[in-house]
Amino acid sequence: MGRKLAAGNWKMNGTSADLAEVKALSAAHPAPSVDILLCPPATLLARMSDLAAGGALVTGGQDCHAEAAGAHTGDISAGMLRDAGATHVILGHSERRTDHGETDTDVCAKTAAALAAGLIAVVCVGETEAQRDAGETLDVIGTQLAGSIPDGCTGATLVVAYEPVWAIGTGKVPTLEQIAEVHDFMRARLAARFGDTAADMRLLYGGSVKPGNAPEIFATSNVDGALVGGASLKAADFSGIIAAL
Ligand code: G3P
Repeated sequence: MGRKLAAGNWKMNGTSADLAEVKALSAAHPAPSVDILLCPPATLLARMSDLAAGGALVTGGQDCHAEAAGAHTGDISAGMLRDAGATHVILGHSERRTDHGETDTDVCAKTAAALAAGLIAVVCVGETEAQRDAGETLDVIGTQLAGSIPDGCTGATLVVAYEPVWAIGTGKVPTLEQIAEVHDFMRARLAARFGDTAADMRLLYGGSVKPGNAPEIFATSNVDGALVGGASLKAADFSGIIAAL
């Protein structure tokens, strides 16, 4: 396993003024021992990428269209993200699946488009609280993994984020045993499908990660980093998480 990954998802937050956080973050981590990724809203992507250029921080999109170009008002292609300086793109986040009805098939097509454009895909999976209560967690994760990830992925091109829907923005976090169970399961499923390269696929945990709970989460089996929402918006908070990796 290579370097760990601290990924921030700004979601629909941030305007020009918030680019100051990127400067602060870059200055605080001139030569970090982990990879640092920030995924701002599309409006900030090019400027954030320019600010980050030459430093340790890289940038990503939060979604892309499955097609390379065309009549899709409001959408952004993977190639456009690359052109704006992105190296990664988050795909299949539960908020996209819920707000925009994205299915595993949609996410798979978008992931294939991202890979074709030379981006690293950060594919998100996660169960709802009702699914966990019904004992369906591993079934749900297995189905999402199988359906959302195209053939041909490698440790260099695919990151998977486990984000329990009920833990996102709620302050609720699964037990370390629950996180380990899902991450171990994901590693085994990916290894069964992709072989040895699965050992290099980084598996991120996401959902209410804060500087305070990051150390124990990062010490958990098969956790290779985090996908962080709220606590990635401020350099001071995100730095605390990066320092825990
Ligand atoms: O993609 C990150 C995310 O959904 C987790 O959000 O605010 O709970 O860290 P948050």
